[in-house]
Amino acid sequence: MSPVVAAAGLGHVYGAVRALDGLSFAVAPGELYGLIGADGAGKTTALRILAGLIVPQRGSARVVGLDPADTRSGVRESLGYMPQRYSLYGDLSVAENLRFFARLFCLSRREYAERSARLLAITRLEKFAGRPAEQLSGGMYKKLALACALLHRPRVLLLDEPTNGVDPVSRLDLWELLYEFVAEGMAVVVSTPYMDEAERCHRVGLVHHGRLLLEGEPRALVAGFTDAVLQVAGAAECVEPVLERAGADVVAVAPLGGALRVVVRRGASAGLRRALAAAGAQVEPLRPNFEDLFLAQAAGGAPAGEAAA
Ligand SMILES: Nc1ncnc2c1ncn2[C@@H]1O[C@H](COP(=O)(O)OP(=O)(O)OP(=O)(O)O)[C@@H](O)[C@H]1O
Ligand SMILES: [Mg+2]
Repeated sequence: MSPVVAAAGLGHVYGAVRALDGLSFAVAPGELYGLIGADGAGKTTALRILAGLIVPQRGSARVVGLDPADTRSGVRESLGYMPQRYSLYGDLSVAENLRFFARLFCLSRREYAERSARLLAITRLEKFAGRPAEQLSGGMYKKLALACALLHRPRVLLLDEPTNGVDPVSRLDLWELLYEFVAEGMAVVVSTPYMDEAERCHRVGLVHHGRLLLEGEPRALVAGFTDAVLQVAGAAECVEPVLERAGADVVAVAPLGGALRVVVRRGASAGLRRALAAAGAQVEPLRPNFEDLFLAQAAGGAPAGEAAA
């Protein structure tokens, strides 16, 4: 199916900061695409370009085949955008915010009544219709922002960290909502810094320093991961020198409860396990997850799966 979102070689610089450096990806109708990356990777800049709020300095963006920055093209009707930060009027109630967005998109009274009722029901916000947006919990606020972005039934939905600051139950609710809409054929681009959320997307692009390091189906990417992962527990003065001696064979180290999660080149894994055990550490092999893949990629580790152009 031809893509409804296409970013081709996007480049953007703010002063001395290179936010995007040749970012390309495409999303088909009914696809949930995750832009996964750490703080400052360039996710918001990419989404703002796709929403038509910034004109890229390099490359091109297309949404339903149109330039999103061309306000006369009618592209805005096909596009829903939920910014990372405040997108609602805090002093307006839940219902008033929805009505405001309905007017913005010139919905008829009937369309507004039908759609807002459905969205309030599925977001479970009906009971709070009269509450000012600024008095909602973080999760409810995000759900209202999502409802406002969906009111005009966009074909393409851009969500910038929709679950940031949201409790785990509401996070699941939000994902359930997204699945409903993609099942109806909507294309969703969602940015997140949460690696567990990467696994919920149909396809992900790993963004690092404004470019795509890796792209593919999350499970296939993890299955193609070539490094080993160890859980290492022990006194820092025993463990750290061993990890330091291993040099470049240790790809990434992250805290894991009171222990460490160590990504190591597969060929060096057995030797490192022996050395750590000899130093008095407890070592358990772990099944690699998406976070390991991301850490290894961000550290310039071994490529896994299909590398991005
Ligand atoms: N308006 C701006 N002026 C100057 N620099 C900016 C501006 N917006 C973003 N940047 C810089 O560009 C880089 C990319 O920022 P961007 O907000 O796109 O990243 P991000 O992946 O969304 O990060 P986060 O996860 O923290 O939201 C960062 O280094 C950021 O500091
Ligand atoms: Mg951002």
